Amino acid sequence: MQNAYLKIEQSSPLQGVAELTGAKNAVLVTIASLLLTSGKSVLRNVPYSADVLQMIALLEQLGAQVIFSPENHLLEVDTTHVNKWHVSAEIMKKMRASILVMGPLLARFGYADIALPGGCVLGTRPIDYHLNSFRKMGVEVAQDGDFLHGRASQLCAQKIVLAYPSVGATENIMMASVLTKGVTRIVNAALEPEVLDLIEVLKKMGAHIEIAPPATIVIEGVQEVHPIEHTILSDRLEAGSLLIAAAATGGSISIPQAPADALEVFLLKLEEMGHHITVGEHEVGITLHATKNPHAVSFKTSPYPGFPTDLQAPMMVLQCLAEGTSIIEETVFENRLVHVRELEKMGAQIVVHNNTATITGVEALYGAQVIASDIRAACALAIAGMAAKGTTIMTGVQHWKRGYESLEKKLALLGAHIWLHDDEDEMDMTPLNERSISKQIRA
Ligand code: EPZ
Repeated sequence: MQNAYLKIEQSSPLQGVAELTGAKNAVLVTIASLLLTSGKSVLRNVPYSADVLQMIALLEQLGAQVIFSPENHLLEVDTTHVNKWHVSAEIMKKMRASILVMGPLLARFGYADIALPGGCVLGTRPIDYHLNSFRKMGVEVAQDGDFLHGRASQLCAQKIVLAYPSVGATENIMMASVLTKGVTRIVNAALEPEVLDLIEVLKKMGAHIEIAPPATIVIEGVQEVHPIEHTILSDRLEAGSLLIAAAATGGSISIPQAPADALEVFLLKLEEMGHHITVGEHEVGITLHATKNPHAVSFKTSPYPGFPTDLQAPMMVLQCLAEGTSIIEETVFENRLVHVRELEKMGAQIVVHNNTATITGVEALYGAQVIASDIRAACALAIAGMAAKGTTIMTGVQHWKRGYESLEKKLALLGAHIWLHDDEDEMDMTPLNERSISKQIRA
């Protein structure tokens, strides 16, 4: 992977129909939630991405049996023999979402030994909401060095008030509460579509969960939950990225599976820019016809249903080439404007002050050597490369592969001039325990 890069050339207007893969931020927590059950579950529409293979490796390290058929996006997970509750630093540092097994392990065993996830390029990313909530539920959390040891002879149902509607903390507390006797309330909970999909998953397993206004999730503990069959919801963030790519190249695309009702504020901003958006029946399906004279718009990211932070970087690219000035405020993560300096290499005019970027639209961007610092930055730089004159070489493709399943191939089918150069060519997904995955992937 060392020498891997994406090569992107100015692309003609993207045209056509695009399919979506399953949502990364839904499938990762759904796989973790299977630890609450004992038996074989089947998940469909599972994306073949690096993060998914990491979560599979984590479950196998805990004792699960896994069979993954990438070509069918089919994942079978048997958790009957899960008998460990230790998550190594090696896995944790590769993927922060590994923290999402802490709730299920505490619920299943009363134990969880987890390496501290540490920060990432997006910021310090503490897990205090997770740990304080577990402590309130009766978990003793001890830290020695970079390791956390959670112990609970019995979890207690509690009212948990979150200072901020954290996605991960909401999901972890919910999973820890499903088997906890009594009623747990999560007040100021996150209600992202991926969180709502997890609620569907847990209810399918037999959990009792209701949502009460304002933003309170109520979980009544049950004795046990059972394995399930579930289809992962389509990736609204992939849909948003494809629409932005079409807008950036002056194209027209349709995405029949796109969940328009999960992208309201984002679509509003595209329309304010002048792009023509039509939505399908029951808010499913989005078609975009790009305007030739896009106006700059301003927005600030916020928890759902506000403007998604995961579309901030790609949406910034559109503002770089729009008429006028745009102000983008990133309020969810304290350090999620790293992509700005790479866009400046391509000729963008951006002034950053704390977590606010002021973008003055320019006539054109120019190809350059750029480095992706995280999943969504990779997407933004690829889109900038499709709109820019000349050739762009993007390194840091491990982030691209973590977040998307061969998105470069999907974009190329719509007319983009984009190629992934990777001496492994096949996904270098060798998870930690090589023993399992390679043997389990049916040829
Ligand atoms: C989830 O991360 C997503 N990841 C992120 O997607 C997404 O950007 C984020 O939610 C917000 O929508 C997955 O679902 C795997 P948070 P998560 O807890 O759960 C602070 C992508 O590109 N915070 O809602 O980690 C935190 O530092 C990724 O797909 C605390 O201070 O997000 C951040 O500033 C990136 N203490 C804010 O809250 C805590 O205990 C939101 O974090 C927890 C969070």
